Amino acid sequence: GKGAAMVTAVAYRLATQHAERQRILDALRLSREQLLEVKRRMGEEINRGLAKESHDQATVKMLPTYVRSTPDGTEHGDFLALDLGGTNFRVLLVRVRGGKRRSVEMHNKIYAIPQEAMQGTGEELFDHIVHCIADFLEYMGMKGASLPLGFTFSFPCHQNKLDQGILLKWTKGFKATGCEGEDVVSLLKDAIHRREVREFDLDVVAVVNDTVGTMMTCGYEDPLCEVGLIVGTGTNACYMEEMQNVELVEGDEGRMCVNMEWGAFGDHGELDDFSTEFDRAVDDCATNPGKQRYEKMISGMYLGEIVRNVLLEFTAKGLLFRGKLSERLKTRGIFETKFLSQIESDRLALRQVRSILQHLGLTSSTCDDSILVKEVCSVVARRAAQLCGAGLAAVVDKIRQNRNLSKLKITVGVDGTLYKLHPHFSSIMHETVRDLAPQCEVTFLQSEDGSGKGAALITAVACRIRDAGQR
Ligand code: GLC
Repeated sequence: GKGAAMVTAVAYRLATQHAERQRILDALRLSREQLLEVKRRMGEEINRGLAKESHDQATVKMLPTYVRSTPDGTEHGDFLALDLGGTNFRVLLVRVRGGKRRSVEMHNKIYAIPQEAMQGTGEELFDHIVHCIADFLEYMGMKGASLPLGFTFSFPCHQNKLDQGILLKWTKGFKATGCEGEDVVSLLKDAIHRREVREFDLDVVAVVNDTVGTMMTCGYEDPLCEVGLIVGTGTNACYMEEMQNVELVEGDEGRMCVNMEWGAFGDHGELDDFSTEFDRAVDDCATNPGKQRYEKMISGMYLGEIVRNVLLEFTAKGLLFRGKLSERLKTRGIFETKFLSQIESDRLALRQVRSILQHLGLTSSTCDDSILVKEVCSVVARRAAQLCGAGLAAVVDKIRQNRNLSKLKITVGVDGTLYKLHPHFSSIMHETVRDLAPQCEVTFLQSEDGSGKGAALITAVACRIRDAGQR
């Protein structure tokens, strides 16, 4: 009768809606073959970035860092460290003790970077940084001191030596003018000279990428640590490469740490087969469209935006929020990384998912909506972790081949909020590396404050060598 026909119609509609949702989500699911292809292309880009003749065209820049060894435990002294490139700016005082009483003691102060400083002129940005350093020295009661300083500056920099860093391109939403193409050490010194009272000078010994700081910090505990990985606001990796492969630097002996800048992988279309309309939407609205395509599929600054774009599509198709597009959902940046971690937390009941959505102003949500939102978050985070794992698989296999080994044991030092706080990211990433690089036995070590500690350790090594040279 009529009733049965209606039930059939409803069942049919539910089934097509379900199929429609899955069809959209399927574009965000990667097969093992696709991941192997990502690994292969990353491997190719690594070689292109290292070789002199292809370097200029390569997306993955493989930048020499002039860090030639991991710490050996004899490093010691008092150092200043600066950390710019995450969500905040920090100034640190680091006391490193070597030998039997080996330890690292740190004091730090966090400073917000106002939007104006991030996106105004370079002068404003560096004036602000110097202002923070002056405040820190005052606060620590060491105004006159001139300690050797390590500057963790987490952006792609060209280096001809350790104490120089020519900014190639801003990433992660920074866009202060007049900095690209300049040496950040000079920008810092110029800002000091602009101050009315010259209360201090800085002895900048090293410019350090956060990946390198992380590798060094973990290397202090574990000598097998020869890779550094960040999955936070942005994503990037570094590792110890054979000098003979680092064609941009003279010499064939030993190894040098290379800052891969792998976030730019995909900028020449290497990821086009795997990316979706949602990735393109996120890219189009970013401060750097067309750039950092791999980073935009992986890191915390962008995952929430991917999720929001998927939800927009679902809603427009009438599959979510009763088809009602709220102003809130149209607002960029509403889903922070924190939210992605919370919503996927296993202890979280659906009721709580709903209350998070309500908190975000998405009030018209039903229970089914909560299930779907959680599924979207999970698919987007899984893809990010797998892509990251595929890249890392290429790196560890490259190191293994460099050393002609059938089996490599290696440790990866890791830092970054997405890696540390997301309930599933790390385990999916580990599983992917294990699967795609079966000949490598990879241990993951979380770094405690790699950016600060690592910069100090690198500075300590450099000072030891410098002081020995002066004697
Ligand atoms: C961006 C930067 C890179 C940094 C990474 C993680 O990709 O370009 O230098 O290491 O973010 O902070």
